[in-house]
Amino acid sequence: MDTAKNFLLDIKDRTAYLTVNRPEKLNALNRDTLSELSKLLGFLEQEQRVLGIILTGAGDRAFVAGADIAEFKGLSEAEAFDLATWGHRHVMDVIYNFPKPIIAAVNGFALGGGLELAMACHLRVASDQAKMGLPEVSLGIIPGYGGTQRLPELVGRGKALEMILTGDMLDASASLQWGLVNYVVPADELIRKCDELLQKMYLKSPKALSLAIRSVNKGLQSPKEGYDEEIKAFAEAFGTADFVEGVAAFLEKRKPKF
Ligand code: COA
Repeated sequence: MDTAKNFLLDIKDRTAYLTVNRPEKLNALNRDTLSELSKLLGFLEQEQRVLGIILTGAGDRAFVAGADIAEFKGLSEAEAFDLATWGHRHVMDVIYNFPKPIIAAVNGFALGGGLELAMACHLRVASDQAKMGLPEVSLGIIPGYGGTQRLPELVGRGKALEMILTGDMLDASASLQWGLVNYVVPADELIRKCDELLQKMYLKSPKALSLAIRSVNKGLQSPKEGYDEEIKAFAEAFGTADFVEGVAAFLEKRKPKF
């Protein structure tokens, strides 16, 4: 696929390195960028060479500084409804439920829609320069790409409401302490740390990874159905070639080849 106008895409050693590339606007997500991202995700889901994705922002200032505020001006309620619905369905939910692991490499500001994008990813690794927040209330609006749901999921209701109601940014070490990110590393080690995490996952069954993502997500979105989903996904795993290989390798005292 041709690299989109607002993205850089590099596929190397089973990993897609996907970079939002609007550094002059701190990688803010305008409609074109979101639409390109949706198409890129469709492509990467199908692409056999890709087992995982690292998502980051261009430049050394921002991961993504939010939805593009310039595009908010003059939006009606109905248009805002459509904008948020589209973003949820075609980008944020797709990332959240993506069948291959996606890690956000948070290299600077992750604000508003930028933090929501990072929170939709399966894991977050932040550089020690990163700053995270949901400042929407300063604009007279609220988070609209999943922030009110995914932030409490990660940090609990009290801390989430503190962030959302004050609009304050957290620095990297507070983000780690609050559980918003998995790791904080020096800026020049950010991608290496993400690579290291993905390489561990690539030793495991890709099918099992996708079933695990599906099961975890189901329980978070619909707690009553989570246990049933786990049972279904557990059983589904027994029907895969990866299961046959994984168990055979264990019994033969060798490493599995998935
Ligand atoms: N939407 C549109 N443009 C944005 C943007 C956003 N969310 N965030 C930054 N930009 C643009 C700025 O307008 C500026 O463009 P310009 O040079 O054409 O004027 C450029 O990116 C650089 O940002 P600037 O504000 O000059 O940098 P700064 O270092 O002074 O401040 C921030 C950095 C992140 C604190 C500040 O840009 C900011 O508050 N951004 C908005 C964050 C936000 O509210 N996000 C949630 C949106 S729902």
